[in-house]
Amino acid sequence: VIAFFQPKVLAGRRILITAGPTSEPIDPVRVITNRSSGKMGYALARAAREAGADVLLVSGPTALPAPYGVQRVNVETARDMHSAVMRSAADMDVFIAVAAVADWRVANSSQTKIKKQADGHAPSLQFEQNPDILAEVAAMPSGPWCVGFAAETEKLHEQAQAKRARKHVPLLVGNLAQQAMHADTTEIVLFSDEGADALPPLPKLDAAREIVRQIARRLPATATQ
Ligand code: CTP
Ligand code: CA
Repeated sequence: VIAFFQPKVLAGRRILITAGPTSEPIDPVRVITNRSSGKMGYALARAAREAGADVLLVSGPTALPAPYGVQRVNVETARDMHSAVMRSAADMDVFIAVAAVADWRVANSSQTKIKKQADGHAPSLQFEQNPDILAEVAAMPSGPWCVGFAAETEKLHEQAQAKRARKHVPLLVGNLAQQAMHADTTEIVLFSDEGADALPPLPKLDAAREIVRQIARRLPATATQ
């Protein structure tokens, strides 16, 4: 009902969003993952859809239903997420990377369940770095307009501005990790070439609507507009 009254600031825009954690197998019954409920990414998918966008949500494992009118593709690993994103990124106007992507996958994962050893000896895992999905999309020639997220545990402003520069994204949404995970409210700071804009603590859907407004305001006009 509320959605009807949202201004359609993203009408006609195609928006790709990643959300949730990724999950990297150790063996068929064990995984390594990041702490993420998916709530912020799903709130953004809903807010973008309410603003008139055509939304594709590439989601890692979460307990959330797809928002109304949003097309969802489910993935498990960072590499699956990377392929799903790369399949459609070139057709998109905006890419919002909200997913908490596992930075490493297990290089020596096992096809069969690893059994406990009688002598108490623990397995050792080796890691390999996963592709950086956001950095790769941001580097595409005539690719979508990119928005990144960053959850930091310290020095938010410094780290977020450095990350924005490193990934070459015009807008990066930062928050302090301890406060954001699994909560229904969030306290975010928007980093752009205009500087840092700190929002008050807000329910995630309200924060998402504000991010959508900020994206719409900054987005270059299309040929038809
Ligand atoms: N991201 C991504 N693919 C990855 C890692 C991160 O698309 N393999 C995206 C996230 O979705 C987020 C942004 O990049 O939008 C920043 O993620 P973050 O983990 O904060 O950055 P990293 O570059 O991985 O740096 P670090 O974890 O060391 O802080
Ligand atoms: Ca990371």
